[in-house]
Amino acid sequence: MKALILSDFGREHLYIKETSAPQISENDALIKVQFAGIGEWDQFEINGGYHEMLNIKPEFPYICGSEGAGEIIKKGKNVHHLSIGDLVYACSFLNEKGGFFAEYVAVNQDMIKRIPSHLSSAEASAISGVGTTALRGMMKLELGELDNIIVHGASGGVDHLAVQLAKSITNNVFAVASGEDGVQLCESMGVNALNGKSNLGDVEFSKFNKMLLTTQLEDYRTHTEDMLKPAVIAYPVGNYDVPESNDNQIEVIPYYGDLDKAIIEEFDYHVRNHKIRCNISKVFDIKDFNNAYNHLEKHYTGKLVFRV
Ligand SMILES: NC(=O)c1ccc[n+]([C@@H]2O[C@H](COP(=O)([O-])OP(=O)(O)OC[C@H]3O[C@@H](n4cnc5c(N)ncnc54)[C@H](OP(=O)(O)O)[C@@H]3O)[C@@H](O)[C@H]2O)c1
Repeated sequence: MKALILSDFGREHLYIKETSAPQISENDALIKVQFAGIGEWDQFEINGGYHEMLNIKPEFPYICGSEGAGEIIKKGKNVHHLSIGDLVYACSFLNEKGGFFAEYVAVNQDMIKRIPSHLSSAEASAISGVGTTALRGMMKLELGELDNIIVHGASGGVDHLAVQLAKSITNNVFAVASGEDGVQLCESMGVNALNGKSNLGDVEFSKFNKMLLTTQLEDYRTHTEDMLKPAVIAYPVGNYDVPESNDNQIEVIPYYGDLDKAIIEEFDYHVRNHKIRCNISKVFDIKDFNNAYNHLEKHYTGKLVFRV
């Protein structure tokens, strides 16, 4: 099969090449990949960051890609809830059998769901990595219908899913987005929004007791100390410094978006019941991976995907 492979860590070692297709075990299905989500976190993986952090020995050639959508073409003998020909979306992180940037991927059945009818394959391919991270954020915040939440970074991958999940729990959701297109995206999802890069001073932090934060909030203390207390801020650990709080009335919860069967089930339930969408800014042919990764550094809303 053709795949985007790493012959060693580092972007200069990425190539489209022929390699052998993965073998399935009795609990896996083999998916013929149509689209794969490009993760903001891919670059850390490409540079060997996760392997170093988790002390995993890499095997090259190595195939990245932690989420995607496509058709089931083969399944193991224990896989009963899926059929050959099903169109599915799935995710698996640091999969030893190879990632989604390939013609075929072998994925454990617990991580695979059928694509709901309101989603395109491209949308479905990119929704689960950021979506499950957003859902974990809601759980960490213990968001309830009486809470008032600011979603900060709301036009990005994780947070545009968080806006929709939060809205299904409480009517009091405010989005701090990036750029006018980001504001428009959030307003199209039915919430009030402003551009945090130019108008952060206009946010009435005193009205909000919960925050999902996926960006560096420059004047973190100045702004958040005005929050309605006791306040809770959840923060997926990633590119930015983990904010600290000197105020015992403000709890900061850094967390990881770990994947397991339960979070996949629950996220799929929300996607179907609340018609959650994924905003795809741009689709890149997988051969155009260099441009895609350059684009990742620029401003865009929602997610980028590869057509595989
Ligand atoms: N630990 C985990 O399991 C996990 C999983 C997923 C993600 N993460 C982390 O979570 C973070 C978000 O991930 P992501 O995939 O959602 O990334 P992303 O798509 O880049 O989202 C971040 C968004 O924040 C926006 N932003 C930056 N400064 C802003 C400001 N002052 N006001 C309003 N918006 C602002 C960015 O807009 P511009 O592009 O225009 O600057 C971007 O849209 C990253 O740090 C990532 O590493 C962690």
